[in-house]
Amino acid sequence: MSANRPAAVVVLAAGEGTRMKSATPKVLHSLCGRSLVGHVVAAARELEPEHLVVVVGHAREQVTEHLAEIDPGTRTAVQHEQNGTGHAVRMGLEELARSGAALEGTVVVVCGDTPLLTGGTLQRLADAHTSDSNAVTVLTAEVPDSTGYGRIVRDPADGAVTAIVEHKDATEAQRAITEINSGVFAFDGRLLTDALGKVRTDNSQGEEYLTDVLGILREAGHRVGAAVAADHREILGINNRVQLADARGLLNERLLREAMLSGVTVMDPASTWVDVAVTFEPDAVVHPGTQLHGSTHLAANSEVGPGCTLTDTVVGAGARVVNTVADGAEIGAEASVGPYAYLRPGTRLGTKAKAGTYVEMKNAKIGDGTKVPHLSYVGDATIGEYSNIGAASVFVNYDGVSKHHTTIGSHCRTGSDNMFVAPVTIGDGAYTAAGSVITKDVPPGSLAVARGQQRNIEGWVARKRPGSAAAQAAAAARPGSSSPKPGEEGEAGGGH
Ligand code: UD1
Ligand code: CA
Repeated sequence: MSANRPAAVVVLAAGEGTRMKSATPKVLHSLCGRSLVGHVVAAARELEPEHLVVVVGHAREQVTEHLAEIDPGTRTAVQHEQNGTGHAVRMGLEELARSGAALEGTVVVVCGDTPLLTGGTLQRLADAHTSDSNAVTVLTAEVPDSTGYGRIVRDPADGAVTAIVEHKDATEAQRAITEINSGVFAFDGRLLTDALGKVRTDNSQGEEYLTDVLGILREAGHRVGAAVAADHREILGINNRVQLADARGLLNERLLREAMLSGVTVMDPASTWVDVAVTFEPDAVVHPGTQLHGSTHLAANSEVGPGCTLTDTVVGAGARVVNTVADGAEIGAEASVGPYAYLRPGTRLGTKAKAGTYVEMKNAKIGDGTKVPHLSYVGDATIGEYSNIGAASVFVNYDGVSKHHTTIGSHCRTGSDNMFVAPVTIGDGAYTAAGSVITKDVPPGSLAVARGQQRNIEGWVARKRPGSAAAQAAAAARPGSSSPKPGEEGEAGGGH
């Protein structure tokens, strides 16, 4: 709970983002499972502002719809033409005023394209702003390359911030300044509203610059302060896909670092990717080439990878998951999955259950200790405890029109190469013979045999394939035969 709650946070997200060269609006591009604007809104929420308004313009229907989905508490303000950051903030404040919000206190402004900004940094900015009794406090950063950014101009005598000069409007001397404007500010709400009315457009872009508010407030005798970001990478703004990839790498690194410091072993951070909502318990182990998406959770001592892609999947304590793709699955404690398993939504594996090699499951509840070890498809099924499903079994769930359910009891032993034609039920303790096509319910404790009877046609090879290697081998195998086995003489013959 923040002791210093701002009256409002204004997020600027009306720009088009042309440099993304995309049909998707810039702020809706995503990294680590969240949109750019989603990251900014999440950081802003940590301040617990009374109001949160996002200024939308370009593709505003799409952006508004997205915001309603991820954070229904946000308001949107429309900026029809992108006349600059100052104009955008004005639109945001007017929208808040229309809704009756009193902008007494602090108003924080952030850009919608800085996804690495943390709530902690915003809080430090808001705290510095309040404790220094400033009219405005700008978050700045020392960067290796300040090209394109607004430069922070300080008074040579006392170091006070006197102005922000946009790159395009800066002199050569000002361009040499390496301290830049992050685009994040804390303002006194009332003074901001007044000053925005005085911002002019006589600059190289003909826009209302929010940055001009600093000079206006300073000239009116108000306190202007600055807070320097501890890590300049946090304020990285995304303008193109190179910066998007850079930001994704940095955020992934940050998330993995937090995981490792909380007790997770990450074998190869460089080939491991995680989303912001992924959670871990101590002593989880992640092997190389693994991607964890959505709300995936790894419980204590679970081991995932190499080569896994898990989405919204819960991995139980001590479970082992190898070379697996899983989406919406629940893997029980000490269960074993893969290599080469595909668990689709609705898969629930009990404690010590197994979904082995080349096994696909969907909407399947597999009881404790039950094993599906090899080459099988289990769709729309419930299997009890401690049953074993033979290799190469298919749960035939689809009749071409509807899906049907198969129920298999506990302590069953089904043969290899079975087809369970749903709807069908197999009782507790039942067995089925290998190669069976099970179309009728099997009572508990029975053996079901559902396949053609085997018949052997004696002497068929000698008659139909005379002289072949098979015929020679068969002849040699006859009791009392002294003929050589094929391959033991020069010409075995029979090949084709
Ligand atoms: C802005 C700052 C610059 C700072 C930089 C940090 C100004 C005048 N300049 O420059 O000092 O170093 O950010 O990244 O403030 N936007 C609107 N409506 C508009 C214009 C912009 O909503 O009319 C939004 C954009 O969608 C974006 C943000 O404001 O999210 C910043 O706009 P952008 O054009 O990227 O500003 P910069 O030129 O980068
Ligand atoms: Ca601009």
